[in-house]
Amino acid sequence: GKGNHRHYMLKEIFEQPAVIGETLRSMWNPASGIIELPPVDIDLAAVSRVTIVACGTSFLSGMVAKYWFERVARIPVDIDIASEFRYRDSPLEKGGLSIFISQSGETIDTLAALRHAKAAGQKTIAIVNVPESTMAREADGVLPTLAGPEIGVASTKAFTCQLVLLACLVIATARARGAIDGAAEARLSNAIAEVPSRAAEVLNGDEGIQALAAQVAEARDVLYIGRNTGYPIALEGALKLKEISYIHAEGYAAGELKHGPIALIDETVPVIVIAPSDDLFEKTFSNMQEVMARGGKVIFLSDEKGCAHIGDAAWGTIALPAVHPFVAPILYAIPVQLLAYHVAVLKGTDVDQPRNLAKSVTVE
Ligand code: F6R
Repeated sequence: GKGNHRHYMLKEIFEQPAVIGETLRSMWNPASGIIELPPVDIDLAAVSRVTIVACGTSFLSGMVAKYWFERVARIPVDIDIASEFRYRDSPLEKGGLSIFISQSGETIDTLAALRHAKAAGQKTIAIVNVPESTMAREADGVLPTLAGPEIGVASTKAFTCQLVLLACLVIATARARGAIDGAAEARLSNAIAEVPSRAAEVLNGDEGIQALAAQVAEARDVLYIGRNTGYPIALEGALKLKEISYIHAEGYAAGELKHGPIALIDETVPVIVIAPSDDLFEKTFSNMQEVMARGGKVIFLSDEKGCAHIGDAAWGTIALPAVHPFVAPILYAIPVQLLAYHVAVLKGTDVDQPRNLAKSVTVE
């Protein structure tokens, strides 16, 4: 049931500290602090190229993983949405690793892409939330997220569990390839170990997020911007908002704004800025100033240090705990879920069963 919550979506958002913890404990030994993946019959040390394929929100966790694999494990990643990948006949290196990400494990395009990759001689890993699903049965290796059943059509807890799992996979791969030393690995592992308690802190800020929803609910268009792993979180925020509130929303890489989308900005357009304190903070900050100079209403998501930088110049700020930049996308996913949720409730839409959408897309 929904427990004390008004919707499954809200219940699932609030379950995140617990289910992220569950997923983490399946791959992380608290005694040693070492990440150990469940056994998969794939030699991570031999992997030289990764292909990631998925749809929708699962695709966006893959996009975060691309940044992580490239930066931390020094492995080039190709990523595509399954409906494109399955028909574009990409030349796949024999023995390369392909990763398929799916909450349901049944999405038809992702399943077809998995079959295509297998036929082309790829090693395949399925990251699924339903362990008895078709993808889990057909892939060479399975890494299950332990989010528990997700009822709300909009994916929330499955997404953050995918991210935690992918973060562990990246660390294990980086170690196997000798791409990071023990000290660097320990820093990343410690950062991941903190995520459940930090996620709980983010949820404690729900009232502040709810307070911003009324004005977003008035908007016709909303933009989300971010850089690096903040970019897929911007895309995810926009996807969540449009699917449950039916407000038109777009996510952009912050640096891409001036190549077109900035023309949309006026006093009626809220711009949600994903800006954790990291090595690109200043760049994102200056993109935000360009937005404010054109009258855009900025909602600024950062940690205390970043929020101090902006003072009261933004229309709204959402302060998150300061964390290692590696895990920031996992935490910044939560306020964009909550914002979409509260806006949808104000709009009076069917939050758990948005129009035209199915939980699992098993026909093309
Ligand atoms: C968005 C959403 C969808 C799914 C997509 C893939 O909130 O839920 O975009 O992420 O349909 O579904 P799975 O992960 O089951 O393959």
